Amino acid sequence: MLTTLSSAATLLLASALAGTTANAQVVVNGQIFTNGLAIVDAPQPGTTLHAGATQSVAIDISGDGHLPTDSSGPDSGSPTHFDSLEIYLTSFATSFNLTVSSGPSLLTQEPGSTVKHVNWLIDSCIPSGNYNLTFYEGSHINSDAFFTITPLPIEIENTNSSPSKCSNGTNTIQAFPQAQSAPSHSPWLDANNSTSNVQYPSVTNDATRQAVSCLVAVTALLAFMW
Ligand SMILES: *[C@@H]1O[C@H](CO)[C@@H](O)[C@H](O)[C@H]1NC(C)=O
Ligand SMILES: *[C@@H]1O[C@H](CO)[C@@H](O)[C@H](O)[C@H]1NC(C)=O
Ligand SMILES: *[C@@H]1O[C@H](CO)[C@@H](O)[C@H](O)[C@H]1NC(C)=O
Ligand SMILES: *[C@@H]1O[C@H](CO)[C@@H](O)[C@H](O)[C@H]1NC(C)=O
Ligand SMILES: *[C@@H]1O[C@H](CO)[C@@H](O)[C@H](O)[C@H]1NC(C)=O
Repeated sequence: MLTTLSSAATLLLASALAGTTANAQVVVNGQIFTNGLAIVDAPQPGTTLHAGATQSVAIDISGDGHLPTDSSGPDSGSPTHFDSLEIYLTSFATSFNLTVSSGPSLLTQEPGSTVKHVNWLIDSCIPSGNYNLTFYEGSHINSDAFFTITPLPIEIENTNSSPSKCSNGTNTIQAFPQAQSAPSHSPWLDANNSTSNVQYPSVTNDATRQAVSCLVAVTALLAFMW
């Protein structure tokens, strides 16, 4: 009972904090927990990928087994479900924005599988440099709507020194920072224990611990009041 109340309180607090904490993804045992529902299994942050090669992008959409299989689309009857999930390769430094996966196909493909895969052929037109593989998730968590943007930093190496300019799948780069309304914390992680969580990319441990103890304090207070 207390657990249910505290989870509800945590979610409430998460909604209240939505938008105030940016990009606090957490890597646990090689899985990248976004602040939304998606958990990215591959690629790992900081990986060097090669233009011309195919990279598997793997996303667990079951919350590590917490979500029912019918939670993968906007028509789901579940109060917690995905509405959309799209992936773009972006760089603000070079104003680059290329579609990796758009539209509903990612969530509807591989029916029955809790992990969705994009076999991404990294176009040989992509210049060497640092990029974000950016995940855009529309979702509902306990019936509240969220839009969560998760940049996963990767490097691309292109051995062709003068690649042709990309033309297929390119998009206009949007103003930075992009607006989002994300939960402050992955709904799948224990907010009470940051020691098993590795904050990334830039949140310091102290800031994390402070944020977590604040969350615990308010959660405990709310649970007590209820
Ligand atoms: C990747 O995203 C982070 C956080 O939004 C941003 O600070 C960084 O500049 C981005 N990197 C590139 C290459 O655009
Ligand atoms: C453009 O991209 C799409 C999807 O990535 C692909 O199916 C198509 O073959 C590409 N077309 C060209 C001319 O490269
Ligand atoms: C990249 O393009 C897509 C499609 O237009 C857009 O939804 C997304 O916000 C863009 N991202 C950036 C960083 O420009
Ligand atoms: C936090 O998690 C770590 C790793 O799972 C565990 O070893 C540790 O005992 C936990 N700490 C508390 C206070 O629960
Ligand atoms: C987190 O801490 C609160 C308050 O101490 C407790 O009620 C709750 O059960 C804890 N949650 C987990 C997942 O351990």
